[in-house]
Amino acid sequence: MSVVLAFDVYGTLIDTQGVTKTLQRHVGELAPEFARIWREKQLEYSFRRGLMRSYQPFSVCIAQSLDYTTSLLGLSLPSSTRDELLQAYRTLPAFMDARAGLQQAADAGMRCFAFSNGAGDAVEGLLQQAGIREAFEGVVSVNDLQTFKPNPDVYDYFLRSSKGEADSSWLISGNPFDVIGAREAGMKAAWVKRSPAAVFDPWGIEPTVVIESLAGLVAAVKSHS
Ligand code: 2OP
Repeated sequence: MSVVLAFDVYGTLIDTQGVTKTLQRHVGELAPEFARIWREKQLEYSFRRGLMRSYQPFSVCIAQSLDYTTSLLGLSLPSSTRDELLQAYRTLPAFMDARAGLQQAADAGMRCFAFSNGAGDAVEGLLQQAGIREAFEGVVSVNDLQTFKPNPDVYDYFLRSSKGEADSSWLISGNPFDVIGAREAGMKAAWVKRSPAAVFDPWGIEPTVVIESLAGLVAAVKSHS
């Protein structure tokens, strides 16, 4: 059975801090803090919507967390700037190591899927503009289930959609909550620890492997297959 890789999108293949440049033009030195709060709040909104069973597409979490961050920082942005920032989020760049890491996985005969909180059309567009869509056999979106990671149903849905077996299917993610969700669902998982300062949640549920970048992915997966 071939190895199946489920690549998380935002924060793993696609750099959510890529919006900082656009933010700098509008909020100056507040840009890095703005980008960080915006990202944290959009994830919080997805968790809360999942718990409340009050689903809205991830694009709504992104827009509402943008408005929250703007208010929190005491700013007022014209609607044209709001539109520009949301457009920047739809055209975020891929991390430098994404294309080569995906190519190495394909060369090793691994089946690659994008697996995201983003709705299918949003993820397709994001991957296309970042120039990495062709690396994937398919895109699996939690939107089909109207809930978000780390609901265990979404990992089961991934396995059914990809026709992968849990013990030969890997989640590849920079997001610890996603890694823990996949491990709980019986998948293997690689945590992409891009920063030495990143901390994994101390829940007693560990990633199968920890890698610093996608360059180390294929060797790490092979060593546990
Ligand atoms: C994604 O699903 C969790 O934002 C992350 O792409």
